[in-house]
Amino acid sequence: MVILDGKATADSIKAEIAAEVEKIIESGGKRPHLAAILVGSDGASMTYVGHKESACKRVGFDSTVIRLDETISQNDLLEEIEKINNNSSVDGLIVQLPLPKHIDEQKVIESIDPKKDVDGFHPVNVGKMVLGLPSFISATPAGILELLIRYGVETSGKHCVIIGRSNIVGKPMANLLSLKANPGDCTVTMCHSRTKNLKEHTLNADIIIAALGVPGFLKGDMVKEGAVVIDVGITRVEADTKTGFRLAGDVLFDEVAPKCSYITPVPGGVGPMTIISLLKNTLKASLLK
Ligand code: GUN
Repeated sequence: MVILDGKATADSIKAEIAAEVEKIIESGGKRPHLAAILVGSDGASMTYVGHKESACKRVGFDSTVIRLDETISQNDLLEEIEKINNNSSVDGLIVQLPLPKHIDEQKVIESIDPKKDVDGFHPVNVGKMVLGLPSFISATPAGILELLIRYGVETSGKHCVIIGRSNIVGKPMANLLSLKANPGDCTVTMCHSRTKNLKEHTLNADIIIAALGVPGFLKGDMVKEGAVVIDVGITRVEADTKTGFRLAGDVLFDEVAPKCSYITPVPGGVGPMTIISLLKNTLKASLLK
């Protein structure tokens, strides 16, 4: 069993990105610049945006975080986005989700210039991704593909079961792995909360991607010998730690890992790769201008 070490892989990719930024600067180019909008003070969102900001600094990107009050109106938020769309010094823009209930998330996503949409959430980018055209691919699926590439995990002809149909992970992952591409060429089964006999599907899977957000959901008896298991879950659960919580994956690691050919841990698996993809998309956005 091989652990797909997202942390180590992400660290080496960060060094590659940092070297590329240096080259750009030496040849008179401009530092890639990521702007992040954070609305309100949700603890997890603040942590994620903090990680994104420090990752930018580590690779030599400029980064701006725009912190807005929880009570901001939808129109005022859309105006902030428009300002950044029109600010040529900013290459990539993300609006951290979830947003407060009074704001229409889809409307916000659609207000971001697709050329700056480094989260890959805009329908223009999602549509291009589904067609296999060049686009910004959302960070978590892109990070998973990168991890599969770096470890040489074969996907062609494999049966991949995806658990969870979110717009951010499940749907793009299903589309990407079914594309005629490498990684890709999978036969994909998409499972979700209404799927009957889920275990029958997972027991047939060569590759399982667990992205439902239920800690410890995938148990040892749901996985066949030699499977590749990718754990996208990162739920904060109460724990006797300094912070009062720990991050729990969707996979019951101790039961599942011994059966796997490859598995991602939580933390240190998909999470660090997600941030890398955001950096790569921001670099790409800055070079496309
Ligand atoms: N909330 C959870 N994941 C993400 C992400 O990848 N991007 C943004 N903008 N918000 C998120």
